[in-house]
Amino acid sequence: MSATAEAPSTAAPGSPELFSERLKAATWSDHRAAEDHGFTRALLDGSLPLAGYTEMVAQHYFAYAALEEVGRRLSDDPVAGRFHYPELERLPALVRDLEHLLGPDWRERISPGPATRTYAARIEQMAGHPEGFVAHHYTRYMGDVSGGQFIRRAAAGAYGLSDGAGVAFYVFDALGSLPRFRAGYRERLDSLDLDEAAAARLVAETRLAYQLNTEVFADLGRVHAPAA
Ligand code: HEM
Repeated sequence: MSATAEAPSTAAPGSPELFSERLKAATWSDHRAAEDHGFTRALLDGSLPLAGYTEMVAQHYFAYAALEEVGRRLSDDPVAGRFHYPELERLPALVRDLEHLLGPDWRERISPGPATRTYAARIEQMAGHPEGFVAHHYTRYMGDVSGGQFIRRAAAGAYGLSDGAGVAFYVFDALGSLPRFRAGYRERLDSLDLDEAAAARLVAETRLAYQLNTEVFADLGRVHAPAA
């Protein structure tokens, strides 16, 4: 049974019964803002210069370092631990992409921008708020296995990159079928035994996670896609 079904008195009228559906419905306008951002559009239509793509990969490195570190810390937590999928971890792929894009001294050539620092700090705070951590996990990884696959194709085409070199971040071979993975992920969301307050916090934190991502795009866009 979903968290929303257990607390009908506080659920919005007409809200879907499954928590995964409620979460998607309540955050889809934020998704649209991230998807429709000028930087994202330029990335998808192939007009973003390679330097902009490279900088996005660099910013991802800092966000995922925080996400995966907190994820490991919460791996035994009854809520967040259900989303501990070692096979999802993106840091090794990000390192491969950065080595390819920037060379062996990639680590000295990257630093987190202001929006990324804010985003990573928020993720770190979620070490004490497991359902908030789930919100950040959902926003990034479900995005990577969904719209991320469009980015993978666009970047491979625009910059001549390949799966092992430049777009490894978007390759999830260890997961098998992505539609099946997404369905299983939604089932885990639906089986979370959250009370209404925790469910509402997860939804609110997901909205914030989208906004923090959009701010990272805005920072990147100011430098790399100013006309967008
Ligand atoms: C889901 C497209 C950007 C997060 C989806 C789905 C599509 C999509 C088609 C539905 C997949 C399905 O129902 O199985 C895109 C496109 C993007 C984009 C074209 C442009 C690059 C983003 C960004 C984020 C994101 C930037 C987060 C920062 C998500 C999440 C879902 C999702 C969390 C799962 C929604 C759910 O089923 O609950 N995206 N997306 N997407 N996307 Fe995006």
